[in-house]
Amino acid sequence: MNKRIAVLLSGRGSNFAAIAAAVNAGLIPASIAVVVSNRAGAPGLDHARALGIETLVLPSPGITRADYDSALAAELQARSVDLVCLAGFMRLLSPSFVRPFAGRILNIHPSLLPAFPGLDAQKQAFEYGVRITGCTVHFVDEGLDSGPIVLQAAVPVLDTDTVESLSARILEAEHRAYPQAIALVLSGNYSIEGRRVLRPKQ
Ligand code: GAR
Repeated sequence: MNKRIAVLLSGRGSNFAAIAAAVNAGLIPASIAVVVSNRAGAPGLDHARALGIETLVLPSPGITRADYDSALAAELQARSVDLVCLAGFMRLLSPSFVRPFAGRILNIHPSLLPAFPGLDAQKQAFEYGVRITGCTVHFVDEGLDSGPIVLQAAVPVLDTDTVESLSARILEAEHRAYPQAIALVLSGNYSIEGRRVLRPKQ
């Protein structure tokens, strides 16, 4: 049966666009069932609408985190979503969401975790002075940027870099890594041992 993905975003949506392109190219054997945002004005929603994908806005002010996350889980369950992809979704998810979708939520983060979790990861890495940073696709658990790692891509930091130029190269790496990680997870061709996500031996 065709797998169904939900993409959650809060802003620009360039990772969503990369996922949608990979779906269209047949690199991800799935369809995008819905794109959800907590922000009505998120540019990523316009792109989803242009592609004819259902969009859903769930604003959060005035709602407790637990109620918000339960409502979000219910919306995705109603659409028989198999895999949830966080793509710049700038909200922490509580157990009310993470439990019903345990092992079925991915996130992309713009650093080589566990270095530089949280906000402005590219700036954190730049200011720390690391020579190599990158991006990480990981399963989401109840912590902050803390679940088992599916895939990482390294990006060197150049002497000539600014936070902006470094962020742009990390973003290119994100656009390659996220579709690859989604395809792997949807294939089911992996096992998790402790924190390690392992591919079967060829
Ligand atoms: C991406 O760089 C993503 O890694 C980051 O937000 C950006 C969203 O861009 N996510 C986080 O920092 C999560 N902690 P996009 O809207 O163009 O995909």
